[in-house]
Amino acid sequence: MNNNSSRTDEQETLIQYEYIDKLKDIISDKSNRLGRKLTYNVTTFGCQMNARDSEKLRGILDKVGYVRTESEDADFVIYNTCTVRENANNKVYGRLGYLHSLKKKNPNMIIALCGCMMQEEVVISKIKESYSFVDLIFGTHNIFKFPELLYNAIQSEDMIIDIWKDTTRIVEKLPTSRKYAFKSGVNIMFGCNNFCSYCIVPYVRGRERSRKPDEIIDEIKELVSDGVKEVMLLGQNVNSYGKGLEEDIDFAKLLRRVNDIEGLERIRFMTSHPKDLSDELIEAMADCKKVCQHLHLPLQSGSSEILGKMNRHYSKEDYLALVDKIRDKMPDIALTTDIIVGFPGETEEDFLETMDVVKKVEFDSAFTFIYSKRTGTPAAAMDNQVPEDVIKDRFDRLLAEVQSIGRSKAETYTGSIQSVLVENVNSQDDSLISGRMSNNSIVHFPGDESLIGSIVDVKLTECKGFYYIGELDG
Ligand code: 5AD
Ligand code: SF4
Repeated sequence: MNNNSSRTDEQETLIQYEYIDKLKDIISDKSNRLGRKLTYNVTTFGCQMNARDSEKLRGILDKVGYVRTESEDADFVIYNTCTVRENANNKVYGRLGYLHSLKKKNPNMIIALCGCMMQEEVVISKIKESYSFVDLIFGTHNIFKFPELLYNAIQSEDMIIDIWKDTTRIVEKLPTSRKYAFKSGVNIMFGCNNFCSYCIVPYVRGRERSRKPDEIIDEIKELVSDGVKEVMLLGQNVNSYGKGLEEDIDFAKLLRRVNDIEGLERIRFMTSHPKDLSDELIEAMADCKKVCQHLHLPLQSGSSEILGKMNRHYSKEDYLALVDKIRDKMPDIALTTDIIVGFPGETEEDFLETMDVVKKVEFDSAFTFIYSKRTGTPAAAMDNQVPEDVIKDRFDRLLAEVQSIGRSKAETYTGSIQSVLVENVNSQDDSLISGRMSNNSIVHFPGDESLIGSIVDVKLTECKGFYYIGELDG
């Protein structure tokens, strides 16, 4: 439970590389003995932040000599877990049973768990009690120790558990293995200080810590020289980037610096909190030509009273005024959002306020969530939890509204020419390739594999609701 504070962040990087070297020998010996390569599988639950963390896990596993497989019938299996809603936890427990059956057949198998769910004490107790076949558990704050922990797990017969309560550390320059050659997430900050009353993230991801701007810029330059065209700047609340750093920097300034990187073509970021979205940021977004025409701006609720209880620090009117300000500077920007239905005490009137904001803003799309009670958060102790059938009814009405608005918004782009970053060959029809527009919508169009990773102009010939069919322009 200590956080190895005797090591500096720089020493830590070197120490972990030493473990990587030791692991290389061990893995090579093992695979020589078995007469085959050892395989690994990383399964990710949850958000983009977890997806990026999984790339760090894969970077290390690739380096030490494991071979990646999509099957969970592998020699090393790790679940990078999420705990933002209860069903995320349930999925993990469900799948652990299946892993146990695989482990019985493969005595070499090592099973590891990491990520947000592991930061909860109740989860650790449950795993110790009911899933004793798990070999290694670590959390969100010490993921950089993965080489050392993997080394220990291989050497030990016992379950290894290393969970830190919080950290101030940022360990740089460990290997990563990207999912896409042409785009990448880039962490700019970790943790969250907002304590929205329903949300478990601040408890499992710790306090806000920003990476130094030079480290971020260097990482992006390196990615660009390795073929990356698009970056997604990642943080739980990117709008408060820079607080606590010595440099005179905030998110707007960082965005301008990233925009100046030669060879980079597109910039996205996630997630923005409405309360911290500054005028300077709106200016920077409008000025920076590489910043995509898309902003994800979680609303959570349209009722000022519920927003107060959620500890969001803005009202319905503040949110609507912010949207006006953004659209005033960037009329073509696509707006997407997150909405929670059934927060404790939500009345029909409160819900109708949410519907009202949805109709007024006309979001291009919205992720809608049923409120999930997270033990330890202030909302879990609130009275007036909304009955399930009422929530379900509101959820269905909200979803229908969101989808109908999304469809008609999408339709307005039909016939236009859009720049598209080609991502893959279509899985159902290999004469088509698929890519993303600046506003994050997907378009499928005739073309071949050689275009993957390039940005091309595509005419949108047909809108299929939430995606398009198109053709190369020119
Ligand atoms: N219940 C339902 N949805 C939640 N979210 C966060 N916590 C909860 C919860 N307890 C949603 C929010 C957030 C998104 C990532 O997940 O809408 O923006
Ligand atoms: Fe959770 Fe609120 Fe932080 Fe987002 S800003 S991670 S919803 S506490």
